[in-house]
Formats: sequence, structure tokens, C-alpha cells
Amino acid sequence: MTKRISCTGIKPTGIVHLGNYLGSIKPSIELAKEYDARYFIADYHALNSIKNPKTLRENTYGITACWLACGLDPEKAIIYRQSSVPGTFEISTFLMAFTAKGLMNRAHAYKASVAKNLGNNKNPDDQVNMGLFTYPILMAADVIQFDSDVVPVGKDQTQHMEMMIDIAQSINSFYGKELFKIPKAVIHESMGVITGLDGRKMSKSYDNTIPLFLPPKKLRKLIMKIVTNSQSIEEPKDPDKCNVFALYKHFSSEDQIEKLRSKYLEGGMGWGHAKQELFEVVNDYLTPFRDNYDRIIQDKAYINEVLEKGSAKIRIIVEKKLEVLRKEVGLR
Ligand code: TRP
Repeated sequence: MTKRISCTGIKPTGIVHLGNYLGSIKPSIELAKEYDARYFIADYHALNSIKNPKTLRENTYGITACWLACGLDPEKAIIYRQSSVPGTFEISTFLMAFTAKGLMNRAHAYKASVAKNLGNNKNPDDQVNMGLFTYPILMAADVIQFDSDVVPVGKDQTQHMEMMIDIAQSINSFYGKELFKIPKAVIHESMGVITGLDGRKMSKSYDNTIPLFLPPKKLRKLIMKIVTNSQSIEEPKDPDKCNVFALYKHFSSEDQIEKLRSKYLEGGMGWGHAKQELFEVVNDYLTPFRDNYDRIIQDKAYINEVLEKGSAKIRIIVEKKLEVLRKEVGLR
């Protein structure tokens, strides 16, 4: 039996943090054990906002190295560059003919830009490029071009997934046959609830992140900055209302969790101590990944080779899909 396909795109827009790791990288690597994983660097999506060539290039190397360092096996999973598969963009153009402009008007990211402009008394479309406006169409092409079954994504991608399904279904119903498989979003349980330094969701836009590959000293310094309440050392503390404990749970064993929980409840443990415990488990967990990363990021030729091998496989798959599609719709 052929394996079911898991597909996701990673936008190379910045430094990977613990929230990205727990919410996206880790569950996607888990899925890759069971599924035929096809994970790509969404560099054309990133180009909508990143116009500095050096930054875009470095982010692509950084994110690829990160996935490899965290355990994505390029012998089993396909990892590739979106921009290395021209067929994706042909499929995207095909989808455009079936996508209502009104649907795109309702996309959150576009609407947020318009609302911000109006709030600042600017033209509603100021700084809005067509890449942003049509973002959900390219994203749909990314996934349905090879009939993906599941798409591991964060909660923030729910609307994009709904639009993708909407577009694919309307094409299928127009032609009266399943030209595209309807994919399913897999929203990992813990996605969206990884808290940052200030207790809000960990996110670049809140400037509250803990980067994944900090050297130990810097990692410790950041962890010491996690916001806690002003309880004294003696007071018993509630582990379930604590940002430090919430993060601790993701990086430790049941046994460690229970031990720290009792220390909270007993009293006599200060916040500095709890943070030190958190630092130790996070650092132990990340050290092998950090070592891998430091090694892989030095070897751009290897990263390019992985991406190119993956892209070559996907180009063949997508070209086959296109041959069928072109015939079905009368382009051939
Ligand atoms: N929109 C996704 C994000 O911002 C990235 C992405 C692009 C993606 N294409 C995709 C995710 C296809 C899943 C499937 O994170």
C-alpha cells in the first residue's frame, strides 16, 4: 500500500524559537515516521515580505539546517525549495481561474493590512502586494499539487486551509470528478499555547521568544527573564498557573514533572530555582540538536544537495499531475 502524504510549508522569515519547535517542527517530524512527508521551504511566500536577498538566502539555509538538526531524515522525507518546482506556480495559475476575488478579500492577513492602513489614514492597499493578496492560492497549490492527505499546521493557518479546501472542492464539482484530493489540516494539540517570556503566546510579533539554538549562557539568561508573580520563596506556588512550569512540562519526563510539582506545592522554592531547573531540562534537550545545527549550517553544499534532491523528486511528481490537468481542462 502506498503511504499517505503529509505536506507542510515553512516560511523562512526568521530565527526559529521554542514555540516553532514544539508547535510545528516536532509534531511534523513525528508525522514523518508514519507518512510520506513532503516538507518545503516556502521561499516565494517569504518574498512577499522579505526583500533583502541575503536575509532570504540565509533564512532558507537556517531553517533547512534546523529541520535536519532536529531529526528530519532526508533519506525518508522529501525536503525541498518551493521556488525549485516551477509546476507549483502553473498549478497556482490554474487555481486562480477558479478562485473568487471575494474569497481573497476575506483572507485574514490581507484584511489585517487593510484595517491597519485605514487606521493610519492611508490608502487601504498601501504596501499590499499581489503576493500577499493571492497568498492562499499559492498555498493551496503547494498542498493539492500532489494530492496530500494531511497538512500539519498551526491554528493560525485554519482559514488558509478552509480556503484551500473550498478552491479544490469547487474545481472537483465543476468537472464532476476528483481532480484534486481534499486535504485535512492536522492542528497539533499544543499548537498556539506555548507561552513566551511574558506569558503571552510565544511569537516574534510579541518579541517574547526563546530562540532554539542559543548558546547555553544566553539561553539561561533569557529563561531567567520569564515573567513570574511576586510570591516569596517560602510561599507554596501553583504550578498550573506558572509560565516556567508550563514550559518545563514540554522538555521533561513524567517523573521530573511530578518532582518539580511537589517543590512548587511545598513552598520554600524561589523562582530563580524553578528557572534554573527549567534551564537544565531545556539545555539537556536541545544540546544534541544545537550540536547538529552548528555542524550542518557550516555545510551549505550539503544543504543545497538535500534541497535539490528533494526538489528534483517533487518536480517529476508535479509534472505528471500537470499533464493530467492540462488534458482535463482543454489546454492540450
Ligand atoms: N502559510 C504557512 C505559514 O505562514 C506557510 C505555508 C505556505 C504552508 N504554504 C503552505 C503551510 C502549505 C502548509 C502547507 O506558516
